[in-house]
Amino acid sequence: MILGIETSCDETAAALVTRDGDVLANVVSSQAELHARYGGVVPEVASRRHLELAAPVLAEALEQAGATLDDVETVAVTHGPGLIGALLVGLSAAKALAWSRRLPLVPVDHLHGHVASLYVKPEPLEPPFLCLLASGGHTLLLDVETHAGYEVVGTTLDDAAGEAFDKGARLLGLGYPGGAALDRVARDGDPEAYAFPVARVPGFDFSFSGVKTALLYDVRDLPADELARRRADLAASYQRAIVRALVERTRAAAAELGTRRIAVVGGVAANSELRHALGDAALAPLELCTDNAAMIASAARYAPPIPFPEYLALDAYATAA
Ligand code: KG4
Ligand code: ZN
Repeated sequence: MILGIETSCDETAAALVTRDGDVLANVVSSQAELHARYGGVVPEVASRRHLELAAPVLAEALEQAGATLDDVETVAVTHGPGLIGALLVGLSAAKALAWSRRLPLVPVDHLHGHVASLYVKPEPLEPPFLCLLASGGHTLLLDVETHAGYEVVGTTLDDAAGEAFDKGARLLGLGYPGGAALDRVARDGDPEAYAFPVARVPGFDFSFSGVKTALLYDVRDLPADELARRRADLAASYQRAIVRALVERTRAAAAELGTRRIAVVGGVAANSELRHALGDAALAPLELCTDNAAMIASAARYAPPIPFPEYLALDAYATAA
């Protein structure tokens, strides 16, 4: 089995996945609460917490799978993009484990990991497909022809979709990270109450900074009691604008590229309105939408392993090349 390790942001995660895509264990320890009081992830705090959590999370994954390190044949680890200090904790742990047991190591790109969340059982998706990857750090349209990679056909020019959800949630007093909370509150609101525009940029790119500013102006002018009364309507309308932009662009790209199948991955793929609007798309299982290590181990099934001990000099990278 493949041991996956993921520490690119504020989730410490370990998973065990078989060569043919059975997820035997998938343990995610979120640090969200730790960072909530700062209103965002504090990189140095995240690194230190990964250091404390790496071993217990790994132990729990092995226990869940009823396995020991003797059963691990390959170690897979995220080496970027993400917070560099956070990545280095996972990468160092993976190197140490692989080295101590003379195992090969597969470095995995976090974004390829998100796509590979679609390749696990019980319903693995087969390329080709057009993949919308919408998370806290990225909003990408990917043309996926093989299990091993993808071609970027669209990206965000400013904020990521998840970032727009989080900033909107903060403006509405829903805490951090607020995407899921905004999703919940929006269920009681009228999505047509406010007309939030989303910029239409050329090609298949996205832009979410304008919609955030529009919400800021509306919220700023509301007295506190009025804001409380309109919160659900604001959340529903704001969510509608983001989801509409994602869906329109994705459908337009699929039509132009002649791709029959659409898939959605990343944290925002957990959004209920997006899941509903793209009901005909392949959706990653909910627990594999937000950051996890099962998707990293899954991606490693399609990447060449680096033999022992050549990976010891491997470095992490903060941003995609
Ligand atoms: O993929 P992910 O866990 O981490 C990154 O790689 O960024 O995505 C996290 C993002 C956050 O911005 C979070 O607010 C958003 O996904 N998110 C949601 C929902 N659940 C998580 N956004 C909208 N609706 C949700 N239900
Ligand atoms: Zn992610």
